[in-house]
Amino acid sequence: PKFWVVVPAAGIGTRMGADKPKQYLSLLGQTVLEHTLQRLLSLAGIEGLVVAIHPFDDLWPALPLAQDPRIESVDGGHERCDSVLNGLRQLAPRAHKLDWVLVHDAARPCVRAETIHTLCEALREHLVGGILGVPVSDTLKRLDEHYGIQATLDRRALWYAQTPQMFRYGLLRQALEEAAANKRAVTDEASALEALGYCPRMVEGSRDNIKITRPEDLALAAMILSRQQG
Ligand code: CTP
Ligand code: MG
Repeated sequence: PKFWVVVPAAGIGTRMGADKPKQYLSLLGQTVLEHTLQRLLSLAGIEGLVVAIHPFDDLWPALPLAQDPRIESVDGGHERCDSVLNGLRQLAPRAHKLDWVLVHDAARPCVRAETIHTLCEALREHLVGGILGVPVSDTLKRLDEHYGIQATLDRRALWYAQTPQMFRYGLLRQALEEAAANKRAVTDEASALEALGYCPRMVEGSRDNIKITRPEDLALAAMILSRQQG
């Protein structure tokens, strides 16, 4: 099977609250999106990479990577899952249903190639696919509507979901098409497959694969990247 990459980069960064979408904020002299794309382009054996860009985005065409022949862009959609689906549709004539698709957030520039290799290796024989994640580290409480603590959850069974999330093209496309047809906005690829009764596999990743979501995350990402490079 071939390997394809889809990068959702069409969000507007509401929680970041910056003057531009967070994928264009500067991180050690480059945009977040450039860091992310360079890490993905460094992977061996990738057949193609599609990045989903907001239709009104005028910052993407100004990046040198927009001219890179290894990258193609597609319009993003209303929700993250719509952006990913647009990327999958773009691959339709070329991708075989058993090919692998790695979906990786533009907002996760600290992912290491080594961790992605671990994911690919762990899923090599898997019929569906799986995701990177890490076990939760805090004690988790379930509340009632008045902030009363009702229960302490069993932490051993709870993990944070990260990206890349890697699935067989045919199943992922089917799952996201069905989610879109039923107007279910799923926040990751795995949940779309779970809704069809599939059981994607969790693969332990790395805690430094953070998603830049809020202002404080940018400084943290800068620290992680400089430590990785140093
Ligand atoms: N994304 C996308 N299309 C959307 C929404 C999000 O491609 N319609 C992308 C974002 O660009 C980001 C990734 O999905 O790389 C993860 O989404 P998130 O962290 O939620 O980013 P934003 O939606 O931009 O941020 P916010 O939710 O705070 O507005
Ligand atoms: Mg969002």
